Amino acid sequence: MTRNGMVLLAALIATTAGCGDSNEGAEAPTPVASEAAAVAESTPEAKPTPPPHAALFGVLPEVAEAEHNPITDAKVDLGRMLYYEPRLSKNHDISCNSCHQLDNFGVDSEPTSPGHKGQLGGRNSPTVLNAALHVAQFWDGREPHVEAQAKGPVLNPVEMAMSGPDAVVATLKSIPGYVDGFAKAFPGEDPVTYDNMAAAIGAFERKLLTPSPFDAYLGGDVAALNDAQRAGLETFVATGCTACHSGVAVGGAMYQKLGLVEAWPNITDKGRSEVTGNAAEEYFFKVPSLRNIAKTGPYFHDGKTAELTVAVKMMAKHQLGKELADDEVASIVSFLDSLTGTVDAKYAAKPELPPSSDTTPKPDPT
Ligand code: HEC
Ligand code: HEC
Repeated sequence: MTRNGMVLLAALIATTAGCGDSNEGAEAPTPVASEAAAVAESTPEAKPTPPPHAALFGVLPEVAEAEHNPITDAKVDLGRMLYYEPRLSKNHDISCNSCHQLDNFGVDSEPTSPGHKGQLGGRNSPTVLNAALHVAQFWDGREPHVEAQAKGPVLNPVEMAMSGPDAVVATLKSIPGYVDGFAKAFPGEDPVTYDNMAAAIGAFERKLLTPSPFDAYLGGDVAALNDAQRAGLETFVATGCTACHSGVAVGGAMYQKLGLVEAWPNITDKGRSEVTGNAAEEYFFKVPSLRNIAKTGPYFHDGKTAELTVAVKMMAKHQLGKELADDEVASIVSFLDSLTGTVDAKYAAKPELPPSSDTTPKPDPT
């Protein structure tokens, strides 16, 4: 391991040592979890003790709220339509849902995704489920939140390939149902704008959260996890995974070097350093959330690893310098299964999309 890797890793582990009774290692402990931990330390008999390791994680909210984008039903309903809207793509054949399928845990199960004219992007499509909880968006964290993120793919030439914000606004203004929808969602403003499109999509995404058996466990229902899953949580914590994958999203809270202890094989993508220009952040990526991880393969930013067992083994080796035995890997995977949640199917279902008018631009396959 490199000297830097060693120092960083030691610091990481130190913050999570004895993690059952401390939440210092969790990036974003919720007030509820930290209060519970404090109470448990001072007066253990006063309140029921939280389940083991609860303080490392956090209570899943119902909505990932943000001050810059207050959620209303009108905004969410508009955002849901836009999420499924192929007319936001040059050839009217690709929507957000093409790569982030809401009936498939928010992914397309491809290593990298086909966009306009079948062109493949350079990175794996992460799930949109629970993404609004992350510290920032994209593998390299280059956008601060889901609203800023939503402006990217529509104009990305290998994704939806629209020529610019004006073309998008012209298309939306040509569809009477959208003119109505934007007026309801953004009253008292110039409603149909590119930013408002992104705000509506973001509002919809802020409720795409997936409660899982692990959340029931964190809430005090210890039996929500079976014996193998509870043992798997112990293995996960004891191995050191929570040094990075902790907090309410079990990840999504910080950037870390991929190959921190042992260099990652065949890595070409420099990740975060391309965004910040800071060479010390070469090969740093956002630590992904592990919610629904059993369902969102292939894994890693390049989608090169299809098997979760292989992904877990590689993580232990390259991030922590540990060779896990097969039974330890299986144990961790049992725990990871408990992070598979449910998205409200009615909320996420494809709505009816408003019809085009004579002035709506035609699909452009070029
Ligand atoms: C052609 C496939 C494709 C389409 C279409 C697409 N995305 Fe993505 N999406 C990706 C890929 C690939 C990434 C990761 C890119 C990166 O990190 O550089 C991504 C990243 C994201 C993320 C970040 C998640 C995280 O964990 O950081 C969100 C949120 C998201 N997309 C939402 C959307 C929305 C909303 C739309 C529609 C406006 C959309 N995507 C359209 C492929 C796609
Ligand atoms: C030092 C920080 C760190 C530690 C410790 C760590 N991880 Fe990771 N993990 C990451 C980063 C960074 C990524 C993103 C990799 C990439 O960009 O391809 C990741 C990715 C993953 C993925 C793939 C996620 C996806 O959506 O494709 C899984 C699964 C995973 N980690 C599980 C684990 C397990 C299990 C452990 C413990 C054995 C662990 N990690 C320990 C930082 C860490």
